[in-house]
Amino acid sequence: MIQEQLPTEIQEYLEKQSDYQNDFEHLYTKDGFIETEGLIHKTVISYYMGKNILLKGPTGSGKTKLAETISAIYQKPMHSINCSVDLDAESLLGFKTIREQDGKSVIEFVEGPVVQAMKNGHTLYIDEINMARPETLPILNGVLDYRKTITNPFTNEVIKAHKDFRVISAINEGYIGTTPLNEALKNRFVIFQVSYLTGDQLKEVIRAQTKLTDNQTIEYMAKLADELIEETKKGKVSEEAASTRALLDACDLAVYLTPLTAIEHAISEKLDDEREKSFVMNLAETYFKE
Ligand SMILES: Nc1ncnc2c1ncn2[C@@H]1O[C@H](COP(=O)(O)OP(=O)(O)O)[C@@H](O)[C@H]1O
Ligand SMILES: [Mg+2]
Repeated sequence: MIQEQLPTEIQEYLEKQSDYQNDFEHLYTKDGFIETEGLIHKTVISYYMGKNILLKGPTGSGKTKLAETISAIYQKPMHSINCSVDLDAESLLGFKTIREQDGKSVIEFVEGPVVQAMKNGHTLYIDEINMARPETLPILNGVLDYRKTITNPFTNEVIKAHKDFRVISAINEGYIGTTPLNEALKNRFVIFQVSYLTGDQLKEVIRAQTKLTDNQTIEYMAKLADELIEETKKGKVSEEAASTRALLDACDLAVYLTPLTAIEHAISEKLDDEREKSFVMNLAETYFKE
């Protein structure tokens, strides 16, 4: 158990953490990140210390899973925002709406994820924070600053975060071709690199999260993934080819389809380049026969 290796103070703190809130039932997360390179240990300590955590890693490497696991360990609801879509101040902070009350219309403010997480002392997960638009940066800076205070421009309310409020962010920073994170933002984080799982740990995830049970197929799928990761690092094939998420899809499909068909649809077809597609299939054919 990961908890037993934590400093005593943190273990004691965790034992006291079970103020289950029904209103946020849907935001409680499950654990399940398989410990690799002491990531859970280090991030759980950083969370306890009140640090903003930034997880860097390629797509499908387990960043969201790790964030969910940290939040689950602290038994905190996790509010998520994704900066890659058209994220504006309203989707972060909330919006005004009109409600009928005793025959009269009253204006009400519906709190968004940032405000709810700050006030209730929950986890705020900010995905693809490097994609945030310049207009939203001042809000994010306020949330990440040690003062943890923002002024809601829609209500003029000054919101000071609950002492348990924590931020975990993720950026899709792979081995090659990355969008750098604004320096002022980066400065506010402690940073952890999350890499694709390999070998025995990857097999453990396949067994835990897919329906595939055939040992030989699991063995070869994991070997293929290890090779794809190496090729990705060399720049031979784009990073999505090595995604753990894609591999898990392939493993599920391989329960009923041939492994090659599974790999074609879960991995190869995601790539844009025809040469890369054939490269993946050729590699797969060294393990599996049609
Ligand atoms: N270390 C790990 N332990 C458990 N599951 C993992 C791990 N790494 C990846 N996964 C699995 O791989 C898939 C993609 O992970 P996810 O967290 O969505 O990736 P990311 O957020 O980095 O794109 C999920 O199904 C996740 O459960
Ligand atoms: Mg994710």
